[in-house]
Order: sequence, then C-alpha cells, then structure tokens
Amino acid sequence: MELPFAESWKIKMVEPIKKSTREEREKWLEEAYNNIFMLKSEQVYIDLNTDSGTGSMSDRQWSAMMMGDESYSGSRSFFEFKDMVTKITGFNYVIPTHQGRAAENVLFSYLVKPGNVVPGNAHFDTTKGHIESRKAFAIDVTTDEAKDTQLEVPFKGNVSLEKLEKVLKENQGNVPFMVLTVTNNTVGGQPVSMQNIKDTCALCHKYGVPVNMDSARFAENAYFIKTREKGYENKTIKEIAKEMFSYVDSMTMSAKKDGLVNMGGFIATNKEDWYEGAKRFCIPFEGFLTYGGMNGRDMAALAVGLDENTEFDMLDTRIQQVQYLAKKLDEYGIPYQRPAGGHAIFVDADKVLTHVPKEEFPAQTLTCELYLEAGIRACEIGYILADRDPVTRENRFGGLDFVRLCIPRRVYTNNHMDVIAAALKNVYDRRETITRGLEITWEAELMRHFTVKLKRLK
Ligand code: F0G
Repeated sequence: MELPFAESWKIKMVEPIKKSTREEREKWLEEAYNNIFMLKSEQVYIDLNTDSGTGSMSDRQWSAMMMGDESYSGSRSFFEFKDMVTKITGFNYVIPTHQGRAAENVLFSYLVKPGNVVPGNAHFDTTKGHIESRKAFAIDVTTDEAKDTQLEVPFKGNVSLEKLEKVLKENQGNVPFMVLTVTNNTVGGQPVSMQNIKDTCALCHKYGVPVNMDSARFAENAYFIKTREKGYENKTIKEIAKEMFSYVDSMTMSAKKDGLVNMGGFIATNKEDWYEGAKRFCIPFEGFLTYGGMNGRDMAALAVGLDENTEFDMLDTRIQQVQYLAKKLDEYGIPYQRPAGGHAIFVDADKVLTHVPKEEFPAQTLTCELYLEAGIRACEIGYILADRDPVTRENRFGGLDFVRLCIPRRVYTNNHMDVIAAALKNVYDRRETITRGLEITWEAELMRHFTVKLKRLK
C-alpha cells in the first residue's frame, strides 16, 4: 500500500484554543461592529484572518532567537540575515524594516512622486495605500483570467502584457517602477509563472521601467513554478527563487509570510542609487540600517526562517494542506477561486450569497455568517477592502468579492480543515435564507476594512 501524505514536521509545543456558543458569538460580533478585526482572539476558535505573522517557528528558529545580537549597530544577527537574503535572492543591498508595508513606505518615499503611475498585478492594499497616499495612481494589470473564478489555469496571478504595455506606453517618463506581486494575494494567492516574470521584466525594461517584486510569498510562488511549469520540475526551490529574483530590480518583503517570523520585513536590491535613496528614509522611519525596526533576535530567526521555507518539504506540507481544504469544499460544491492558491482558499461570495446585493457586501456578510456558525474568523478580500475610488469616492465594485480562508503556517491540522469545511457547508446549505447583508455606518478614508463599522440589515 502506498503511504499517505503527512506533515514534514512534528509538534513540540501547543497552544490551547476554545469553542464558544452561538449566543456568545452573536453578542461579540455585534460589539465588534460586524468587523472581524475588532474581535478579540479569545472570541475566535479557528483563526483564518491571515497567514501574516501567525505561523509557528521551528526549534531551529527559537534557538537562533537565543543567539540574537542586540547591538544597536553592526549586529551579528543583521549580517546573518543579510547573508541569507543575498544567498537566496542575489541582492547585495539589504535594508531591514519592521514589516512589509514599512519596506514599501521606505522605498516608495524615495521613488513615488505625485501624479506618478505604478502598474502592478493587483497591488496589495498597503501597497496601493502607499502609492495613493502619495497622490500617485496604482493601476491593475492582472490577466483577465483571474476574474473568472471557475477557470482552472495554472498561473492565474500573471500580468497581462497587453495591459501593462498600454500603461507603459501612455505614461512614458511617469512610471517610477512596476510592482510584481508573487504570489498574487489579492486574486487568490495565485502564482505567476517564470515565463511571465521574464516577459514582464523584459517589457518594463524596454520602456526603461524597473520592477520591484512584492515578495511576501515568493517561496510559495517558486513551489508552484516547480510543480506546474515545464522545465522546473528538477530544480530546487532555492534555484527557482534565485532565478525569479534575477529578473527584477528590487524586492520589498513582508517576512511575516514566507520568512516564517511573527514580525519583520526588508528591502533588497542591487541598485546602488535606490539603496542610497531608501537608506535616508529608513533611519527616521524604521531605525538604524542594521536593525531597521527589528530586534537582533528577530533577524536571527528570520535568517533561519528564510532558509527553512525555501525547502521543498516545508512548502509541500503547507500547500497540500490548503489543497486538502479545497478538496473538501469541492465535495460540498462550494465555489472558490480555482485552483486553490498557495496560502488560502478564496470563497466566491457573489456565487454563494446570490440574494445579497453588492451594495450590502456579500463577502463581508458571509464572513460574519461563518463566524456565527462556528467561531471561525475568515477575512473579507472584496468590496470593503477595495476602498472607494480616490477621485469619484464611489465604492469600487469592479473586482471580486471573496472570503479568504487563510491558513497560518505550521499551526492547524487537517482536523481543523475538516471543521472549517463543515462549518462553511452549513452556511452554504442555508444560503437561500440569507437575503440581507450589511451597511457601513463608519469608515476611514483609506484602508477602511481594518476599522470599518457595519450594521446588519434585516
Ligand atoms: N504585500 C503583500 C502581497 C501582502 O500580502 C502584504 C500583507 C503586504 C505586502 C504587507 O506586508 O503586513 O508585513 O506590512 N498581507 C497580509 C495579509 C496582511 O493578510 O495578506 P505587512
């Protein structure tokens, strides 16, 4: 008999979690204004809000923590971390920051001017925020294939070269860089192929535009290249990652995802002018250049995390767990962005809550229903997250309306995946009875989804 698949690690430390009653959850959700970001973690049974900073570190990482060098300048831990970044990416200039958006803040402070245009394959919300808050424009150039959730294509995160070329042509001299996000979080954790990375960079470079890789989940992207793209099946994850970075000019990194740490980020590049320019903003915003918002011990753990998470077995365990959950949803007929992404399943809320109008936010409504059903905290990646158009102030209903079931790394077992799938099935089975959604009673001007207040409509 062939042996079944199992995790490439065993568990050394556990953290208890608690169930609650439906009455308790009704009360808590109301107190949280129907915004799951305002729930306390004790009020949550299984937390799928994000895979960002929520993973478990390994014994090697914890032991590296003990060896952290907390010197203000010239920390040994910084050099361990920097050397690992250089080994994996080929970039020699490395600026540490406290997380991904801080890396964006530091680099974009140098690069983005009012009126600039920055194309990208679905900028993450903080990336978009850091562009739009500088009175510049973030233009999405993701392939249209990503819009059809039921279409099975291997690299749905790809850039549309036609859309990109149109932006580059029409805005010559006004595009400081392009953002290439791997995997493409916003459209479902969907990967970008090596061919598309190559073609995108060649096109940008033809127009004299550098490419910054938003690398939050670069290792998961490398896994998909290895398992789906011809010619890469026998390459190691580290070889593939190195090739991915060889085409771009710089990277911003949220180390809280594929760095396997709870906090951290960085910028890396071989462009000396960008390094010099960004450095000036690192010191006032983040800290001196050899810690930039991170403790020495955190940089030490990150060096190990980057090494571990660019090994096939680790990524295989992770992504097979996401695919396990996807199979369960297939069994129950629940529609999601196909194929399953690297870090999450993105449930297609428009196709589930067909009676809830866009204006009442179907994905946010489904997120609340799932919490009420079983204490599972998912996250809306849809119309609320999309914010309003900065010019017209209208809600942006043009994209997809997803509920993201985001799986932290090395945290839950497949038994938890079974509970998640069953809870979602229960909501799905009564979907016809859900006819009203939510109304916004308060919102921030930018990045509203973290603090928005909502009322349930009856
Ligand atoms: N880029 C991508 C693709 C991201 O997914 C995130 C964060 C960031 C940049 C910003 O990094 O959080 O370290 O400041 N994504 C998290 C998420 C928050 O839940 O998807 P950060």
